[in-house]
Amino acid sequence: MKQPIFYSLAMAMSAFALCETVLAQVELQPRMGAKLNGLTASQIDRFEIGKLLYSRPIPIEEGLGPIMNKSNCASCHTNPLGGWGAISVTRFGIENKGAFELYPGETQSLAQSLANSSFCTETVPADATIVRTRLTNSSMAFGLVEAIPDGQIAANADEFDMNSDGVSGRVHYVRPLEAAPDSPLRAGRFGWKAQVATVLTFSADASRNEMGLTNRLVPSENPPNGDFVRLAECDTVADPEDMADTEGFHFIDRVTDFQRFLAPPPQTPKSGMDGEALFNQVGCAQCHVANFTTSTDASLEDSIRGKTIRPYCDFLLHDMGLLADGISDGNATEAEMRTPTLWGVRRRDPLLHNGAAAGGSFTARVTSAIAAHGPFGEGASSAAAFANLSAVEQTKLIKFLDSLGRAEFDFDGDNIVDILDFFALRTCIAQGTTNPNDDCAIADIDQNGLVNSIDVDFFVQAFNGEILDCNKNGFADLRDIALGVSQDANNDGIPDECSSCQADINGDNFVDGVDLAIILAGWGLPGTSDLDNSGVTDGIDLAIVLAGWGACQ
Ligand code: HEC
Ligand code: HEC
Repeated sequence: MKQPIFYSLAMAMSAFALCETVLAQVELQPRMGAKLNGLTASQIDRFEIGKLLYSRPIPIEEGLGPIMNKSNCASCHTNPLGGWGAISVTRFGIENKGAFELYPGETQSLAQSLANSSFCTETVPADATIVRTRLTNSSMAFGLVEAIPDGQIAANADEFDMNSDGVSGRVHYVRPLEAAPDSPLRAGRFGWKAQVATVLTFSADASRNEMGLTNRLVPSENPPNGDFVRLAECDTVADPEDMADTEGFHFIDRVTDFQRFLAPPPQTPKSGMDGEALFNQVGCAQCHVANFTTSTDASLEDSIRGKTIRPYCDFLLHDMGLLADGISDGNATEAEMRTPTLWGVRRRDPLLHNGAAAGGSFTARVTSAIAAHGPFGEGASSAAAFANLSAVEQTKLIKFLDSLGRAEFDFDGDNIVDILDFFALRTCIAQGTTNPNDDCAIADIDQNGLVNSIDVDFFVQAFNGEILDCNKNGFADLRDIALGVSQDANNDGIPDECSSCQADINGDNFVDGVDLAIILAGWGLPGTSDLDNSGVTDGIDLAIVLAGWGACQ
């Protein structure tokens, strides 16, 4: 039966509309360390100012010390700036009947390794029976993580393991320093023990504890080894040291801005890998939970409100058995650790709170991190299930982990989209179809199973080099080459019609009056003078000759 014409037209139009909406949602994911998409101009300013201050060494006269670990946040949070790092801090205390206690006389477990004067240098007492290190960690996208409603975190908790799966996550309820003393507790999410719920609290805590910068939320200095007499001797700047700037912001507010506006690390391909199904199957996702949606609270910025994020983390405390650091922190016990986020994991070295999974290949590192989940902890059965997978399945699972932190089109994984990635893109266009398990999925940004002109346009946006249009046809040269509009016989990323040898029509190694004469003779016609193969010899061909004028190279 013949379809009435308006019907098929309507079908076609709705298919077109569908296609448009899908495309409208596709955008390049920010690289690791970049700001969120869609920030306003003033938010971008705040991000940039915060980033500068995050990286600026604080002078002693502005409040650094008297005891500290570093002079600025960026010296530890390096990968990317604001993210993870390879530097660890030391915590110490004494063991008392299996429990962690502060060393007698100390006010905290964190050691500060530097001081403004040797008189105040803190030492880790020789008879401290517990001395542990904690690696610099990061959740990235701190603003988005902060905006996960407490209820969503609590929904994954199973404190008494009612479902008997051997995994029993627990919320670490804490009170932000900026909250009223009688305000309700919040679900902690930052730090290896989920000991902090808000970015501002962590900024205030880190400013005092890592840098000795007292502030409105943490207004008093740390005494070296608990000794207030030595402190009085070395502390020369009145507290709190962090003063408001001309716009009324304190240092802790500025660095909070920077961290809140950091984007989540990219994940490419975004979904559909067999390895993720295996990750779920062996129980990794019991703790490394893929999805959360941020709060729709009207006070949140547009770039943070109501966003789905994929941190692969439940932000809960788990008894990790022998892997745990043996230090209690607030309500977190000696054996409990907070699940770390896995986004960005492909770009991280070392892994684990003590940095024990370090060096070697990515496969070696994550295999060792997974093995460390057992025995005797809640991670034991999933570590065992991973060990029991076939080699092929393990490779698939690790390939999925390797997608976490990978930027679109970054085939060689150096976090830069350059000409080498362009050559890989060309191979993928030639291949045509793709799927999430295939290497070409890195170029299929709209995940439609094809590497085509839509993806090429996104590649041009993602490209880190200069975008040229040497043949002046209104499209990027890389696009012309990728789609076959231009040839690139010598694979240099420059359309053949633009290289000066191309303009050397008579082949005497000079682009000169003879070549110009050939162009003029062929004007309006196809043939050897039609350098860009447009079908006619015209001003573009003339421009190519003039641009290549001189010795051919
Ligand atoms: C000496 C190295 C060092 C310096 C300097 C430092 N940090 Fe950290 N940072 C760490 C370590 C180690 C952790 C993990 C702490 C823990 O959980 O015990 C951490 C954790 C954090 C976290 C929590 C990350 C998460 O999601 O779990 C935030 C936020 C943070 N730091 C912010 C800052 C800010 C802001 C500054 C500067 C004011 C700063 N840090 C300075 C080492 C450092
Ligand atoms: C019971 C909860 C739980 C399960 C199940 C679990 N993990 Fe973890 N995972 C954690 C915790 C907690 C840590 C941090 C432990 C530490 O460093 O002390 C961690 C650390 C990691 C790390 C290192 C991340 C970093 O930031 O250093 C990787 C990689 C990892 N897990 C992958 C996996 C994989 C793959 C599986 C499945 C085979 C898995 N995990 C199962 C809780 C879990």
